[in-house]
Order: sequence, then structure tokens, then C-alpha cells
Amino acid sequence: MVKPLIAGNWKMNTTIQEGAELVVKLRELIKGVDTVEVVIAPPFTSIHHLNFLIADSPMTLAAQDVFWEDRGAYTGEVSPWMLKDVGCRYVIIGHSERRQFFHETDETVNKKVFASLKAGIKPIVCIGETLEERERGETLERVSSQLRGALNGVGEGLLRDIVIAYEPVWAIGTGRTATPEQAEEVHNSLRQLLYELYGMEPVRDVRIIYGGSVKPDNIDSLMAQPNIDGALVGGASLKAEDFARIVKFRHV
Ligand code: PGA
Repeated sequence: MVKPLIAGNWKMNTTIQEGAELVVKLRELIKGVDTVEVVIAPPFTSIHHLNFLIADSPMTLAAQDVFWEDRGAYTGEVSPWMLKDVGCRYVIIGHSERRQFFHETDETVNKKVFASLKAGIKPIVCIGETLEERERGETLERVSSQLRGALNGVGEGLLRDIVIAYEPVWAIGTGRTATPEQAEEVHNSLRQLLYELYGMEPVRDVRIIYGGSVKPDNIDSLMAQPNIDGALVGGASLKAEDFARIVKFRHV
């Protein structure tokens, strides 16, 4: 059994002060949790400060995006080495908001995955279908091609450092979550695809987590599904009590 991973994606929210208050509350609420890996992804501007506050807590840090070059004339970008330097262990790559608003493609996702792995940062790769794609019955086709694109050229030795986040676009920030059965169907087919591409052994430790309106009242039934290994939480990760309850999901 792999350790479940619960990650909070703060998106473009929180000042340094607000982030610090949230982390201080969370530290108390999730003290001693060791059966779940807890990751928080604050905005770039807060990472350095929060790195001190999470010491001796179950939390580790993620960034919300990264560029694929190490350094150079790329105004506005942040490299994997810089993320490593500031204390990040993970990075979210290919979130649907980046695909939608910032022209992220499967090719750029793939480059970012490679660059992050090279720097020792673990990618949380987001994939997911739009509502139109789901209604046209294209969900599995869509997420499979996104997954193939993201992992293009990634060898089996690096696979265990990658987390896959299935996030149906229609469930993000809408309050409309996928049912546990809908999510499980996709997770199961992603797992089958990974088996096909890599064989059983390297895939055993790969976590496939679910994101899209995860809340305290739906986390338990989502985590009860055999192929759901954690959650990527947006809105609810900004409320300490809600996020702590999600981290402390119960097996139902
Ligand atoms: P949400 O966001 O939980 O607010 O739906 C999830 C995400 O975008 O990762």
C-alpha cells in the first residue's frame, strides 16, 4: 500500500501573513499525522517563509507551476532548481487553469515533468476532461492521451516519483464533484494504461489522486475507492479546519 497524498492547492490566494496563519492552525490540527503525506502549494511569494513554519510538521511544500529551463533570460519564470532551493519537494504541473488561461499543452507539461524530475522535484501532473468531452463520451480517451503526453519518454525508474492528479475540469471550483464511482472508473483506467505502458512492478507505487470540489463531506467516500490514492484540494485547502478534516479522512 502506498501512502495516500493529500495536497492543498492555494492557487492565487494568501499574503505571507495569511499563509502563515493558515499553516500555524494546520500544524496544530494535523499534529502527529503520519499515515498520510500532506502537501501544501502556496503562491511562490510565500514559499520561503512557510518553509520555516512547516518544520517538524507533517507538511511538505509544492509549487503551483515551474519552467523547464534551469536559468537564463526567461523573464517571469521560475526553474526547478529554484524550487528545490526554496524548499519544495513537489510541483503541480499542467493544472487545467494553466491549460485554459496560459496555453499549457501536453508538450510543455512533458518538458516540465522532465526538468522537475532532473532537479529532484516530484511532479503532480494534472489531467482531466471538460464537460463537453464527458458528455460526448470522450473522457477516457482524453485523459489517456493527456497521460501519455505528460509521460512521453519518462522511463520506469522515474515513475514512482510522479503523482497523477485526475481533475475533471467541470468539477473544479464548481461545487460539483465527480461521484466516487465516476472518479474510480477513470482512476482504474489510468492505472490500466500505466500497467500497459510500464508493467505491474513500476506502477505499484504510483499515486493517482483525485481533485475537483473535494470537501470534508465527500473525502471519505472518495478515499474508499480502491484506485483513489489521495486528493488535490483547492477551495477547501484555504480553510484550516476543512483541510485538516480532509487530511484525516476516514475509511468508510
Ligand atoms: P477545488 O479545486 O477543490 O476548488 O475544486 C481543485 C483544484 O483546482 O486543484
